Amino acid sequence: MEKFGHRERFAGLAIYDTKDKLVAATPQLGSDLATPPLFVVHAMNSDEEGGTFLPLGGKERYLHVLPLHREERVAGALVIFYESAFIEERISLIWKNNFFRFLINALIISLTTLLLIRWSVTGPIDRMAQWLKNLRTKKENAPFSLPPGGILAPLTREVEHMAQSISAARASAEEEARLRREGESTWTAERLKEHIRNLLQDRPLFVISNREPYSHVLKGKKVEWLVPASGLVTALEPVLKACGGTWIAHGSGDADREVVDSRDKIRVPPEEPQYLLKRVWLTKEEETGYYYGFANEGLWPLCHITHTRPSFRFGDWEYYYAVNRKFAEATLQEIEGISEPLILIQDYHFALLPRMIKDARPDSRVALFWHIPWPNPESFSICPWQRELLHGMLGADLIGFHIQFHCNNFLETVDRALESRIDWEHFLVNRDGHTTLVKPFPISIAYPALPTRSTLARSPSPDKEGIFKELGIRGKYLGVGVDRIDYTKGITERFRAIERFLEKYPPYQGLFTFVELGAPSRTHIKAYHDLMGEVEGEVDRINWRFQTKEWKPIIFLKKHHSHEEIQPFYEAADLCLVTSLHDGMNLVAKEFVGAKEEEKGVLILSQFTGASRELKDALVVNPYDLEQVAEAIRQALEMSPEEQRARLQRMRETLKERNIYRWAADLTSGLAQIRLGKEA
Ligand code: G6P
Repeated sequence: MEKFGHRERFAGLAIYDTKDKLVAATPQLGSDLATPPLFVVHAMNSDEEGGTFLPLGGKERYLHVLPLHREERVAGALVIFYESAFIEERISLIWKNNFFRFLINALIISLTTLLLIRWSVTGPIDRMAQWLKNLRTKKENAPFSLPPGGILAPLTREVEHMAQSISAARASAEEEARLRREGESTWTAERLKEHIRNLLQDRPLFVISNREPYSHVLKGKKVEWLVPASGLVTALEPVLKACGGTWIAHGSGDADREVVDSRDKIRVPPEEPQYLLKRVWLTKEEETGYYYGFANEGLWPLCHITHTRPSFRFGDWEYYYAVNRKFAEATLQEIEGISEPLILIQDYHFALLPRMIKDARPDSRVALFWHIPWPNPESFSICPWQRELLHGMLGADLIGFHIQFHCNNFLETVDRALESRIDWEHFLVNRDGHTTLVKPFPISIAYPALPTRSTLARSPSPDKEGIFKELGIRGKYLGVGVDRIDYTKGITERFRAIERFLEKYPPYQGLFTFVELGAPSRTHIKAYHDLMGEVEGEVDRINWRFQTKEWKPIIFLKKHHSHEEIQPFYEAADLCLVTSLHDGMNLVAKEFVGAKEEEKGVLILSQFTGASRELKDALVVNPYDLEQVAEAIRQALEMSPEEQRARLQRMRETLKERNIYRWAADLTSGLAQIRLGKEA
């Protein structure tokens, strides 16, 4: 007791025995503790340690009781008294300290939150607002960007898309206005839209093709979309974008089913929907028989004179018929309830479709556009089903080819194979009381290209040096080729001509590189599979012959390239080689000319393409004549800038006059004239 008695904040100690007698106590406790408080008596009785607050000697105290034992029985209790004012003091101190701590924490958190909001929300919003304002007042053209992954990323993306759409619409309106000022000769998206509106009186337009304009594919677990490599798609997409409507096509992407609605439709382009894509599903057997078999092993080599023998199998023909029927059903479903619908059927996959549709809906206006050449009657006559094909095609009100020569071949084929009356003056075929007009409509591209969201979002193209650097070579002159790897494109002939050029003109070794952007195509067909091996073999052989440590004559980039990826090559190339052995039109030639804004570069173009009839300022060559193509390469690389400019200017003028909008307008006008009974 003496030892503890003077401890700070202790009020004292006391010991009681079980007879409630005070055995000992520290002096500060005073006399009123002679008998133990009731709490102490209870603790001894129950033999339980415990504590409580009690008013003692006029003060609030805390007392803690510890029962004491002798021979395992309670013999008394030790009672420790504390000043309770001290405890309250401590509690209030703790409260006070905590309060300040809390206040500081709250302050820090608030400040940090404010800074964070400023940095990641209001700051970007301010910048976005300023950027939008600049855009509105035309002070800004650059794409808007914020660090990726921020909480505003989804909003940024949307704003970015919206702003690009606005810019594209504004640029397009300005361009439309400019073209209108320059005269009515140029067809534009806007003008076509008006034209189609007048023609259709708000009825929708229907386009049918095998190849779809967008296919959705799985990349790992993500669904992505791509634009397939197809001249047909390149040409028709701007038309649908301008006029709206429904495009019915085979859904061939492995994720296509995942993104369509219950009627197998999806609005496209995916980034800025403007028209409907309806997908038709084919079984593997149907695809094999109709697409790979009859269309691409039969009709494709039959119509192209490339000395690849066509195969005609009865099973394939049956699938061809069945798939045409399937597309007819899908189309009939779509046009139900629409009077005099306008239907544009595309290409050799659907020769039977016009008749199937017309039989069911005689009021429909049907055009069939054949995107590939039509051979002479002797060549076509080897097809065992030539009569059925011609009969199917003549169900159309209008049949279009790229050039008059193909129209003539077609009419001669009909003349020989079918009973019909042909009006050679007006290019009309009458069979069983139905008349079909056969006319050339040279297909083209959207030119002048109006800025779109994707072109606006594109960062500046790498120049020639940048391209060489990316390819890991040194060089001075760049040539480019863009193709599906198809035996009609004369790709190996092209490479051999490059070999001949380097052989004939050795100073160009180490300086001239040709880049082939080659998209694998129809690879399940043996002829295509073999061709791929042959192309790769030729690249290897020629490179092995000439290459040095830092340079290669040919670079073969074997993959599907998007338009955005191809564009820099078109822009930077000194020359483009289009060496098709036979081609309905060839839009690569037109795209190259269209991309040459700086008017530098030369197009070398096969005389066997439809495009060579229009692009007369290209260096026109026979792709089988390697000496001539090699010479054209030299001539192109040595052509003066003035001549390059003059040639490109003339070709660009042609493109402007005969663009895809004019193609669509002419085709639809042709159909309308038939409707009014003013054939041709
Ligand atoms: C040619 C045909 C098109 C076809 C394209 C691509 O241009 O005329 O109908 O879409 O080749 O071929 P693919 O078989 O891949 O559709």
